Amino acid sequence: MDPSRRTLLLRGAKLMATAAASQAGLLGNINLLGQSQMPAMAGMQHTEAPASNAVRPAVPARPWLHPERLARFVDPLPVPQTLAGTETRPHPQEPGRQIPYHRVVMRRVETKVHRDLAPCSVWSYGTSAPGPTIEARKGQPMMIEWVNNLPTQHFLPIDHNLCGAGKDIPDVRTAVHVHGACVPPESDGYPEDWQKSGESLSALYPMHQDAATLWYHDHAMGIERLNQYAGLYGFFLIRDEQEDALNLPRGQYEIPIAIADRFFYADGQLHYPDSGDPEAPWIPEIYGDVILANGVIFPYLAVEPRLYRIRLLNSSNSRAYRFTLSNGHTFHQIGTDQGLLPAPVELKELMLSPAERADLLIDFSSLAGTEFTLQDEVRSILQFRVGAAESPSKPIAMPAILRKIDFIPESAAVRTRTFTLNEYMHPQSRIMLMLLNGQYWHEPVTEKPELGSTEIWSFINTTQDIHPIHLHLVRFQLLDRRPFDVDDFLNYKKFEYIGHGAPPEPNERGWKDTIKTYPETVTRIIVPFTGYAGRYVWHCHLLEHAANEMMRPFEVVAPSKSA
Ligand code: C2O
Ligand code: CU
Repeated sequence: MDPSRRTLLLRGAKLMATAAASQAGLLGNINLLGQSQMPAMAGMQHTEAPASNAVRPAVPARPWLHPERLARFVDPLPVPQTLAGTETRPHPQEPGRQIPYHRVVMRRVETKVHRDLAPCSVWSYGTSAPGPTIEARKGQPMMIEWVNNLPTQHFLPIDHNLCGAGKDIPDVRTAVHVHGACVPPESDGYPEDWQKSGESLSALYPMHQDAATLWYHDHAMGIERLNQYAGLYGFFLIRDEQEDALNLPRGQYEIPIAIADRFFYADGQLHYPDSGDPEAPWIPEIYGDVILANGVIFPYLAVEPRLYRIRLLNSSNSRAYRFTLSNGHTFHQIGTDQGLLPAPVELKELMLSPAERADLLIDFSSLAGTEFTLQDEVRSILQFRVGAAESPSKPIAMPAILRKIDFIPESAAVRTRTFTLNEYMHPQSRIMLMLLNGQYWHEPVTEKPELGSTEIWSFINTTQDIHPIHLHLVRFQLLDRRPFDVDDFLNYKKFEYIGHGAPPEPNERGWKDTIKTYPETVTRIIVPFTGYAGRYVWHCHLLEHAANEMMRPFEVVAPSKSA
């Protein structure tokens, strides 16, 4: 039998068995399901009757956009402006030291997503989404005042049942997180430390970390998926001397590209689907039928026939991509989430889950005069148009060695923590939710690594989804991924591996901050907890999962207080 069909049948059988057991009161507080919630969800994209209990009329009052009818490759790819400014302020902890200070205002703006569509209202850190690119240098601390000047009403469907999104708090809240940054806890954008419209927060970024492609985005408890969907994300690039010495393509030859999927109404405005129940609109995942590159539908990028550095970010809520070039050309990955790999890795295909980044070199020098696309499987995203003129300057060579990375031996870890990744059905609401190790957000902190210590975190993914797991504050290395018998584990609490551990892929042999945990697989990472003591979070970066309990706090503690 076709394996996907087997999985579907298996899922269906488990769902029914669990529902029956639950009715008979056989299960406890929460029902362990261990499979993706609704097989129909993935195919739900813009079906007109999303659920049997839908209250939405069959013919929507506001028609949806049919992206396949849009003209392709008529808009140039916008490259976000770099955040500029010369203002300085005293360093909050180092008397006498002045450091760069920026003020970034979040507001509602109108932006063009396609030539033939009316301007779209988005929420932005600047004038469009993604917001301005923030450039930082290792060793040069900076301060950013994040100002929430957004409207007081949200335009996307808030689910007030979700933790931290109650009706008693302001609808519009923001908490800015620089994903991948090693910062003190009060500057990290802890989901519960939000600002409402009219408020601001000044954050300190110490920048004691290596060059890397980071990004910033909203993290406000219970609504981060809506705020990011609305447009609250941007690039945050760190540079350092080690990277400078490689002479990688710079300026107009270095292009950050954020990929995000969306739904639109025919009038050009954003549409975020809901469950059909206005009292509980949360949906478990979202797969938009439009893929934006730097906020534009089907853009093109004119390039010279030479080497380019492309920093690719998956800023989608749920969608993972399998990127290829339509002409079959290969490219090289030179960096992961947390900076350079040891050496370039040649690829024909690149998979990125939400929040992952890949630093790429693409050599267009043999492709003069051609056009081809960056695509996700067979879906075109962006067209490259390679100019005819050979650039007169000397071609830039691809470096053979990028940097030395010390791989941490397992023996360096002082302890191993094991977590299950599960999907459950809530017994009362009958709504699916996702949990880390069976725990809810509000339960006491159970992970208290000691500052300076190294631990192994092992994720037992009992589901059919790839959950990209992200830890704030730290960078880590992937140890391995090993399949186990999920049926035995869920039904009989018996744990057994059913294969060998697979080492990291060549393009994962560097520092990561977000790791794909594969279905029915144990994924192990090794994490040095350096930086700062304090409360941070770790979570699945499928934003709909994170919003529905697939997020937990952890607390880095000063030596001798750990647990
Ligand atoms: Cu991309 Cu908790 O963050
Ligand atoms: Cu998840």
